[in-house]
Amino acid sequence: MSKTYHIINYGCQMNESDSEHFAGQLADLGYGYAQDFHQADVVLINTCCVRESAEKKILGKIGEMKAIKAANPSKVICVAGCMAQKDGEKLLRTYPQIDLIIGTAHVNNFRAIFQSYVNSKKKDKKIFSDLQNDPQEFDGSFVRKSSFSAWVPIMYGCNNFCTYCIVPYVRGRERSRSKESIIAEITKATLQGFKEVTLLGQNVNSYGNDQKQVNAFSDLLKAVDNIPGIERVRYMTSHPRDMSEDLVRTIAASKHICKHFHIPVQSGSNKIIKAMNRGYTREQYLELVANIRKYVPDAVVTTDIIVGFPGETEEDFAATLQLVDEVCYDVAYTFIYSKRSGTPAAKLTEQVPLAVKKERLNRLMELQNNNSLVRNQALVGKVLEVLVEGPSYNNPNIWSGRTDGNKLVLWPLADRKYTIGAKLNVKIEAAQTWLLKGSAQA
Ligand code: 5AD
Ligand code: SF4
Repeated sequence: MSKTYHIINYGCQMNESDSEHFAGQLADLGYGYAQDFHQADVVLINTCCVRESAEKKILGKIGEMKAIKAANPSKVICVAGCMAQKDGEKLLRTYPQIDLIIGTAHVNNFRAIFQSYVNSKKKDKKIFSDLQNDPQEFDGSFVRKSSFSAWVPIMYGCNNFCTYCIVPYVRGRERSRSKESIIAEITKATLQGFKEVTLLGQNVNSYGNDQKQVNAFSDLLKAVDNIPGIERVRYMTSHPRDMSEDLVRTIAASKHICKHFHIPVQSGSNKIIKAMNRGYTREQYLELVANIRKYVPDAVVTTDIIVGFPGETEEDFAATLQLVDEVCYDVAYTFIYSKRSGTPAAKLTEQVPLAVKKERLNRLMELQNNNSLVRNQALVGKVLEVLVEGPSYNNPNIWSGRTDGNKLVLWPLADRKYTIGAKLNVKIEAAQTWLLKGSAQA
């Protein structure tokens, strides 16, 4: 019987993409997918360290591997991703069940690392955590989870050093993939039937800057927009400081680039935005939103917000609430500030007590939930084009899809067949905070 693998993924879309690439390399080596990690010969945990809450969960999962390894020492336990990069040596010391630590710059050469480990007699535990500075060119081995939507990394690392964020330390400096290799990968995906791509990078707006190119992201988007067979182009994440008017206009004029703008504001207070080293002011950010709405009136605008950054007063937080109300986001991903040691903000003395952070998060979420509902209610009565994703999570008679703005839409099956990955018009009849309900049009 052939050997099997199971991958447990945590964190962002870049990690999901990396996990699909790990899976592709294991599949190339003849490993099949095991539904249950207890049964798998290889378990790979792809980790995230952006917040302490993620780390705690992951440590619990690594702990679970102890019994699995004890019961069958020939199983291979790999820990990859950002936490592996940050704390590899400590993890290996604390959790002897781990065999391999795969840092963030070793996704592409995982196959060689893994093969050399399984073929070695001594089975020395190893750490691969040097941060190479070359872009990792893909060899095209993926086991993609979706049959119609593909993640496509366009750059690695981050140069921004927002003062709260650990990412630049664990993913290194910005390295862009070449336009040719990105286009080749997307062309291949479309030939395989993929309809949607999401271009990934920590700050996609600075794509190509490391190679001294100008407007490289706009140029890349234009080229991807023209690839035959592509239906939808998404990208994340944008940095508001680097989102130019030229880019907004490119998106407005495009055929397939989604009219969804995810522009993380993080805070509405100029004092806090500055302390976060974000490089824009509240006024500049609001001007960007106004520009987006000028060129793309039906744009879906979403954001990330951190509450309780060190030194955030009630007045600063009120400024965030006020900005959130003014922009009226479709969705805001809200986070409690998590102190990451090694980052500049961790050294700031005025840390906000947890109870205050929680209370602020609740107030922010209440306001945002209401705004999300208002934005969704405005769509009732409209006919929206969705990309069909398949039966909904808990009811095979209700199907689901997403709008151009990435809103989840549900509709009853109603004696019809739908093709996953195809476009369908749905008339919106009801709105909730997190989803829309409607009926499929002929
Ligand atoms: N604490 C809380 N949230 C954080 N983020 C990044 N670092 C931290 C941190 N230390 C959030 C930011 C970012 C999102 C991906 O995660 O809002 O945009
Ligand atoms: Fe972190 Fe800022 Fe880079 Fe995003 S842009 S990964 S928040 S440092």
